[in-house]
Amino acid sequence: MVGSLEGKTVLITGAGQGIGRAIAVEAARQGASAVAVSDRNGVTVTETAELVRGAGAKAEAIVCDLRVRDDIEEMVTRAATRFDGLDVLVNNAGVIDSALTTDRDHGVDSLSEEVWDTVYEVNLKAVWLTTRFAAPFLRRSPRGPAIVNAASVSGLVGFPNCPAYGVTKAGVIHLTKVTAVDLAPVRCNCFCPGVIDTPLAQDFFASAEDRAAMERELVAPQLVDRLGRPEEVARLACFLASDSAAFITGSAYVIDGGALAWRGVKG
Ligand SMILES: NC(=O)c1ccc[n+]([C@@H]2O[C@H](COP(=O)([O-])OP(=O)(O)OC[C@H]3O[C@@H](n4cnc5c(N)ncnc54)[C@H](O)[C@@H]3O)[C@@H](O)[C@H]2O)c1
Repeated sequence: MVGSLEGKTVLITGAGQGIGRAIAVEAARQGASAVAVSDRNGVTVTETAELVRGAGAKAEAIVCDLRVRDDIEEMVTRAATRFDGLDVLVNNAGVIDSALTTDRDHGVDSLSEEVWDTVYEVNLKAVWLTTRFAAPFLRRSPRGPAIVNAASVSGLVGFPNCPAYGVTKAGVIHLTKVTAVDLAPVRCNCFCPGVIDTPLAQDFFASAEDRAAMERELVAPQLVDRLGRPEEVARLACFLASDSAAFITGSAYVIDGGALAWRGVKG
């Protein structure tokens, strides 16, 4: 696998921690020439940039709040200008309902409008806007341009107590398809993780009354009996971004330890 992003310039959102950071490091390991990493958290994204340099690529840390349109436009322009073009965009950043409220109950009949709007703006509108601003650069790329979006299994089936999250992730899956259609030959695919051990997942467990029970409940339907690892998702994302996936576009890839393969729960 190493070397399959050889020479490409990459922009990754939400790269301050978790899956985004893992994708940034994996892209550098796979030979990307330059990786622009962005996040609203300037401290963590600067750390990620250092990790990228340590893995052998040039790096640029960009502070950007994806709720702010002008921030998004500036992030894309800065990445493309700094590295003389853009070959790969990874729309990774995401937020979940439970992280934005102290209420334990944030179901479809109790979620606040404010939380709904924030989740929508970060998880769906920002993915579209980033894609829109990146499109002219990607169209000019001579190195197999590609977009990879972070969706979720919660965009494919219903999960309790995270309505805005699931709805926006379903939107990301469809946005992936219309992007692949409208921007072809720029490819666009998304990954749909199950439960991956990152701060986002840990926050979701913590929002339950019994944190350990929540974790057990989410892992129980999996055929692989553990939490997923950010590095495992990063390898899928980098494959989808690479020329090895040249015939793949408009698709959603589930990476969930087998949870959606059946309707069972292991005893
Ligand atoms: N961890 C999981 O179990 C899981 C499962 C399915 C899908 N996903 C998706 O994968 C992606 C990465 O998830 P993760 O678990 O690494 O999340 P995480 O919360 O650990 O990291 C997300 C990053 O996005 C950044 N971010 C959030 N809001 C932002 C904003 N307004 N502007 C800029 N940056 C912002 C955060 O600062 C953080 O660094 C997300 O889209 C998430 O929905 C994760």
